[in-house]
Amino acid sequence: MKAINVALLGLGTVGKGVYQTINTHQERLRDITGCSVHVSTFLIEHPEKHATVNGTTVTDIRTITENPDIDIVFEAIVGKEPAFSYLKKCIQAGKHVITANKEMFAVHGKELRELARQHHVSIGYDATTAGGIPIIQMIQHVLQANNVLKVQAILNGTTNYILTEMRDQNAAFEDALQQAQQLGYAEADPTNDVEGFDAFYKLMILSELIYNEQPNWNDVKRIGITSISEKDIAENQLTNKRIKHIASIWKEDGRILAKVEPVSLPRDHPLYAIEGVDNAINIETDILGELTLKGPGAGALPTASAMIEDFCLIYSGKSQKEKSTVVVS
Ligand SMILES: NC(=O)c1ccc[n+]([C@@H]2O[C@H](COP(=O)([O-])OP(=O)(O)OC[C@H]3O[C@@H](n4cnc5c(N)ncnc54)[C@H](OP(=O)(O)O)[C@@H]3O)[C@@H](O)[C@H]2O)c1
Repeated sequence: MKAINVALLGLGTVGKGVYQTINTHQERLRDITGCSVHVSTFLIEHPEKHATVNGTTVTDIRTITENPDIDIVFEAIVGKEPAFSYLKKCIQAGKHVITANKEMFAVHGKELRELARQHHVSIGYDATTAGGIPIIQMIQHVLQANNVLKVQAILNGTTNYILTEMRDQNAAFEDALQQAQQLGYAEADPTNDVEGFDAFYKLMILSELIYNEQPNWNDVKRIGITSISEKDIAENQLTNKRIKHIASIWKEDGRILAKVEPVSLPRDHPLYAIEGVDNAINIETDILGELTLKGPGAGALPTASAMIEDFCLIYSGKSQKEKSTVVVS
């Protein structure tokens, strides 16, 4: 039986989730792709941390780009570089790529998609936005005739967890943040989450998918949750409202408008009941009307799920058309 050879860039939370899922879902992947799927190479930064890995660990991307046996590369490392340069090289070497890296993709997604088109390979990026919720694939493949009029979303589980704790447990922001860090929901440096950068990157990826362009980043209001006080939460409760950190995008007079900010939501709002680390996306379209998807927005397996579904789309063998639809929105 033919084999699909996979290289993993990064073997942290997400990389391990992908590796585990490929191993636990061998039979299913074989049914879908007609091939056995084998993770042969791991690119990591600190080889000494990964002595027990079953495969080749490398630190030089050329080991992957110059290996003709590697068919596809999953990228789960942190930050714009070296991830962007690595993916560029992999695409130029004719390999399909799948990424979870939102910061990198918000900045370089367009260029990578174009490059993938030129090299006739696919690029999957569903894991960059809302973790396990298949929002990218849904907009690309399911809502094809619908025009998306507006998106309102909770795109960061850490901030949603903190706001939920502040309300439920009457916790101060610092205490709720500390709790999130202890549970592994927040990084030691939580700036990306609590200042809204993470939600902002995801919103920019959605913008490019839906409108084929991003607004000027300087025109997008981005307010985090650090200034929300216990008093704000209590006042909202008195009027049956909940403060949620909402990322929104829509078009007005042909212009893309976007913002990320805390919003007081009334009880009948579709995102009012989204609690804890969940993410949710409310999409308004011209034919369907409103649709809300809710689910785990982060974590090893939800993120791996999004990446493996991208993989299946590329290799399901239905047609070349599906391959290209992963590349181009
Ligand atoms: N965690 C989530 O729930 C989640 C959800 C959605 C998307 N993402 C995105 O997925 C990516 C990975 O997140 P994570 O939580 O898995 O991160 P992580 O646990 O910190 O793991 C990062 C991995 O990348 C490797 N790495 C870092 N810099 C590298 C470099 N310069 N060269 C080679 N390898 C390098 C590290 O190698 P060593 O092990 O050798 O140090 C580590 O294995 C990020 O872009 C993140 O935004 C994460």
